[in-house]
Amino acid sequence: MRVVLAATGASGTIYLQRLLDYLSGPEHELHLVLTPYAKQVVHEEAGELRLPPNVTEHSDKSMNAPFASGSALFDAMVVCPCSMGTLGRIAAGTSETLTLRAADVFLKERRKLILVPRETPWSLIHAKNALTVIEAGAILLPAMPSFYSRPKTFEELADTVVWRILDQIGIHPPNARRWQETGDENGI
Ligand SMILES: Cc1cc2nc3c(=O)[nH]c(=O)nc-3n(C[C@H](O)[C@H](O)[C@H](O)COP(=O)(O)O)c2cc1C
Repeated sequence: MRVVLAATGASGTIYLQRLLDYLSGPEHELHLVLTPYAKQVVHEEAGELRLPPNVTEHSDKSMNAPFASGSALFDAMVVCPCSMGTLGRIAAGTSETLTLRAADVFLKERRKLILVPRETPWSLIHAKNALTVIEAGAILLPAMPSFYSRPKTFEELADTVVWRILDQIGIHPPNARRWQETGDENGI
């Protein structure tokens, strides 16, 4: 698959890292772009990212990337984590950075755009921006981990979100816990 991963300055580097881990196979072509604030959050939360060999990194300040144009064919774009600032700018269609232009392109081309916001609580402005991007065709997949698989590590907890992102892209990790398919007597 050809996938664009964009990270913004919201908390949640662990979700981005787990996505990179899951998409590290040679069958995938990954393009990564980090906003300036994403770099700061990565530094705060993880130090640095582990980048797999199939990743190409792009500057958020340059439109010199294939996915800045609708003519290049991609399967999905994931903004993870997605700040409320970027959510609002996507909703407004500002397109002034590579991340924002790419999101705009995916929406106009009716391609899969998955936004993973992390903020709480939400203002009315956040909620209205969320509604706007959903109406425009984006999939809004908030970073809301679940606990019924009884995760024991931060990675296992993060994976409860990452599995849902991958499901949306059409990649179904064999280790993803699914209700009543694997696990104990509770059907977990
Ligand atoms: C350590 C740190 C954590 C942050 N966490 C969040 C967050 O969880 N959600 C959010 O919407 N903004 C968060 N912010 C604020 C955004 O980084 C800020 O609004 C920024 O302008 C977003 O720009 P970007 O979307 O271009 O990365 C955080 C900032 C820092 C420095």
